[in-house]
Amino acid sequence: MAAVMAVLVVVVVMVMTLSADGASNTNRVYHPCSDTKIQRSDGFTFGIAFASRTSFFFNQSHQLSPCDRRLSLSSSNSQLALFRPKVDEISLLTINTSSFSPDSYGGYMVAFAGRKYAARSPPAFVANSTYTVTSFTLVLEFQKGRLQNLYWKRDGCAACSGNSSFVCLNNQDCGIKTSSCKGRGGSVDCSLGIQLAFSGTDKHYGVLNSWYEVENLRQYSLYGVYSNLRDSLTSQYNKFF
Ligand SMILES: *[C@@H]1O[C@H](CO)[C@@H](O)[C@H](O)[C@H]1NC(C)=O
Ligand SMILES: *[C@@H]1O[C@H](CO)[C@@H](O)[C@H](O)[C@H]1NC(C)=O
Ligand SMILES: *[C@@H]1O[C@H](CO)[C@@H](O)[C@H](O)[C@H]1NC(C)=O
Ligand SMILES: *[C@@H]1O[C@H](CO)[C@@H](O)[C@H](O)[C@H]1NC(C)=O
Repeated sequence: MAAVMAVLVVVVVMVMTLSADGASNTNRVYHPCSDTKIQRSDGFTFGIAFASRTSFFFNQSHQLSPCDRRLSLSSSNSQLALFRPKVDEISLLTINTSSFSPDSYGGYMVAFAGRKYAARSPPAFVANSTYTVTSFTLVLEFQKGRLQNLYWKRDGCAACSGNSSFVCLNNQDCGIKTSSCKGRGGSVDCSLGIQLAFSGTDKHYGVLNSWYEVENLRQYSLYGVYSNLRDSLTSQYNKFF
């Protein structure tokens, strides 16, 4: 717990939800390194840590949760962002990079939550001095309300094919030249957009199906919706509040 708490929280965080219902929160756990069980309509807290790829591994071989003190992330060059989206709502998280350059913090990120039942995503490449990846889809998979797994869902660069501003990195990520980003010599807002999806079951065995919605939306160009949101966020930040 101490390890993560000590990591600086500087990242500006915004949660956008596309749907809203009136149901209220019953989850009183707000710390990303604590265990909890959720039901639909609860808030759920998780973290995303930014650091070098190797700093997520213990003894260079075992990937541990950023909550695990053995990684000593707090004493390495790292940053932490915390989020509390509503379970089973399609949410778009944005991390504003106007005062935060992911490449100067090692360029990789890991999403995580839990302690005894610690779950963490594989490290995802975000940025180096050459390329920056700005859009991600993160799936949170629950079983009986307990977070089991976090993973990055990729679509093999379908979102950027045919757009010469982007380069397809490793056949999976759409990267933009870091030199095109605002503050780095260019004019593009390279803030990170993270689309969330929930899958599995809640503690009452209710099925979480925002994942299903994302899959379906994707057919109808979720990326269109997503880009619009991002454009709106960039230009009219306050319109949504
Ligand atoms: C680290 O890895 C080395 C080589 O694989 C192994 O000999 C050593 O026991 C490991 N140390 C710990 C603390 O696990
Ligand atoms: C930046 O990352 C890309 C994609 O992983 C890689 O091909 C490239 O060699 C990296 N560049 C530097 C300067 O590390
Ligand atoms: C390519 O992507 C850039 C950055 O998001 C965008 O401004 C531009 O309109 C896109 N071009 C095409 C042809 O879709
Ligand atoms: C990021 O912050 C800058 C400065 O406050 C602002 O101009 C920009 O629109 C923000 N970008 C997003 C995507 O919110």
